[in-house]
Parts: sequence; structure tokens; C-alpha cells
Amino acid sequence: MKRVRIGLLGCGTVGGGFVQLVEREGARIRARHGVELSITRILVRDAAKERAIADRALLTTAATDVIDDDTCDVVVETVGGVHAAAAFVRRALARRRHVVTANKALLATAGGELFAAAARSGVAIGFEASVCGGVPVVGALRRGLAGDSIESIRGILNGTSNYVLTRMEAGLSLAEALACAQERGFAEADPSLDLSGEDAAQKLRILAELAFDAPPRRTRVDGIASITVADVEHARRNGRVLRQVAEATRVHGGVELTVETRALPANDPLARVVDEQNAVVIRGRAVGEICLSGRGAGSMPTAAAVLADVLEIAAA
Ligand code: NAP
Ligand code: HSE
Repeated sequence: MKRVRIGLLGCGTVGGGFVQLVEREGARIRARHGVELSITRILVRDAAKERAIADRALLTTAATDVIDDDTCDVVVETVGGVHAAAAFVRRALARRRHVVTANKALLATAGGELFAAAARSGVAIGFEASVCGGVPVVGALRRGLAGDSIESIRGILNGTSNYVLTRMEAGLSLAEALACAQERGFAEADPSLDLSGEDAAQKLRILAELAFDAPPRRTRVDGIASITVADVEHARRNGRVLRQVAEATRVHGGVELTVETRALPANDPLARVVDEQNAVVIRGRAVGEICLSGRGAGSMPTAAAVLADVLEIAAA
């Protein structure tokens, strides 16, 4: 039996879901994968906060308790944001811990430096959860589609924006719909990242980096912040639905990245994506079109992607 000891940074929507999932799936993983998972310490900001953790003695407010613990094999980062998360991940990599992260802002900002540090330390960084929550699009591009040339990627990459637009179809204002998305744990700590299209753009950059051997030449990002119920209703009267669409296409000498609100005809596969669901349509030269869809945000779907990365590291 292989033992994998996990130091968990953050115990909010994603980290809390991860703790529950390790408990729920532990016996199956032992039997199926021959891996004994244990969470050794958990970093939080406020150790007194009410949370569903069986063993509160695992909680600490000192990152070094988690990262510097020599029994720790994998550091799972679910803190979010860039500054503190980058410092924690740098420290973990320097101590030769594998890292699994759900943090697309971190990868979009400091990914190059962190992957170089991981290579120097001979450890891996897993980031399936950073794009599309529970939808395994990173794995699809890294493994399943590695033999093909990718021509384009088009998708709904932000669950909060999609949830908001779907609720606005039912008559809620943007502010009311956003409040519901925040209550359900879909939104970023700073929800302007969701509404501005920046969160989708960060994910699109990660996918483009995996899919294309050419650099982004142009990036255009426009969010849903100014969309009104009247806009949604106007689209509906014309047989269309508004969706925030992220698209990466090859252009001469590189790749063009766009995030914008589009009025899609009802027969577009992305028009049928509702609530916090995400979908990605990938076109490959050999395979043609592939569509992956599912829950792109939320506690348990995202935790499942984090746990899959931990298992992949355990199997390597
Ligand atoms: P969250 O609910 O706000 O949880 C953040 C956790 O990190 C909390 O437990 C918080 O402690 C802790 N924390 C934050 N800053 C800290 C610091 N400086 N030092 C110590 N602990 C700190 O966030 P989340 O929604 O789980 O998101 C986490 C990451 O996953 C983000 O990068 C996000 O983009 C990504 N993600 C989220 C989702 C989703 O559906 N929510 C899906 C995919 C990816 P306290 O509990 O004490 O406040
Ligand atoms: N805030 C993000 C979203 C979380 O709504 O898609 C998942 O990455």
C-alpha cells in the first residue's frame, strides 16, 4: 500500500469539499488504487471559524506547519488569489513537495516561474481543477488529444457568469443572480474577476498554452457586467440566448484569444449550457470536434478534479 500524505492549504469551498471527498472515497481508493491518503495539516485564515471538519486539530494558521512538515508528500493549494498562494507554492516546490492547485489566477500570473521551479525540484504541479471545475479538459488536452493538432477551442469557462445569465433569463437582476452564485460558492473571492471575463480569460490562456505550439498574439476580453435583463429578453425574442463565450483560434503567426458575450442561436451546443455548467468544444485536425461539458464550479466537482491530480501524482 502506497501512503500519500497531503498538506492542504485552504479549507473553503474547494478545500472543504476535498476533505469530504478524501473521507468519502478513501476506502474505494485504497482498494482500487492501492493508495492510502491522509491529510496531515490544513491551513486556514481563521481557525475558530465553524466548518465541517472531523479533526479540528489538523487546522493551523501557519503555512509553514503544512509545507515544512517533512512527512508531507503533496501540497494541495486551494487558498486562491496570487500573492500569498505564490509564496506558499514556491516554498512547497523548493522543499520538493508535489503541488496540486485549483488556482488559475496563480497559473496565469506566475505559471512559467512555478513550472520551472517544479522541474528543478523534480516534482509535478497538477492543475486539472484550475479550468472548468469537474470537467477534465486539462487531461483531455494533455493526454487524450496529445496526438492531434488542435485548431480551435470554444467554450463557456466561467460558471458564475453562466449561472448569472441563466438566472437573468428567469427575471433576476444581475446583482440578485450574482448574490445567488456567491451563496453557492461559485464566484471568486473578488467576483469582478468572474463578471469582467478575466477568470474565463485566465482559463483560456491555460488551455491555449496546452493546445497550441504558438503564442497568443491578441487577447480581447469583455465580460457580462453591463448586461441587463432587457438584453437577455431582447435576445430571447430573437430566438437567441446570451452566453459568455471564450474562444482560442489559430491566426497567422499565433493564436487569438477572445472572451465576449454572444447571442447564440438555440441550436448552438453552448446555448444549452445552463447554471454553473461549463462546456468546451475542441476541434482537432484528426479527431474533428469533441465536446466536454459538466459542472464547471462548486465544491464537490472541483474537489474531484483536485483528487484526480493527487491520484495521478501517487501513481507516477
Ligand atoms: P474560498 O471558499 O474563499 O476558500 C479559501 C480558503 O483559503 C479558506 O479556507 C480561507 O481560510 C483560506 N485562505 C485564504 N487566504 C488565506 C491566507 N492568506 N492564509 C491562510 N488561509 C487562507 O475559496 P474557493 O472558492 O475554495 O477557491 C479556492 C481556489 O479554487 C481559488 O483559486 C479559485 O479560483 C479556485 N476554484 C474555485 C472553484 C469554486 O467553484 N469555488 C472552482 C474551481 C477553482 P478561512 O476559511 O479561514 O477564511
Ligand atoms: N469562479 C469560477 C467560476 C470558479 O465561476 O467559474 C471555477 O473556476
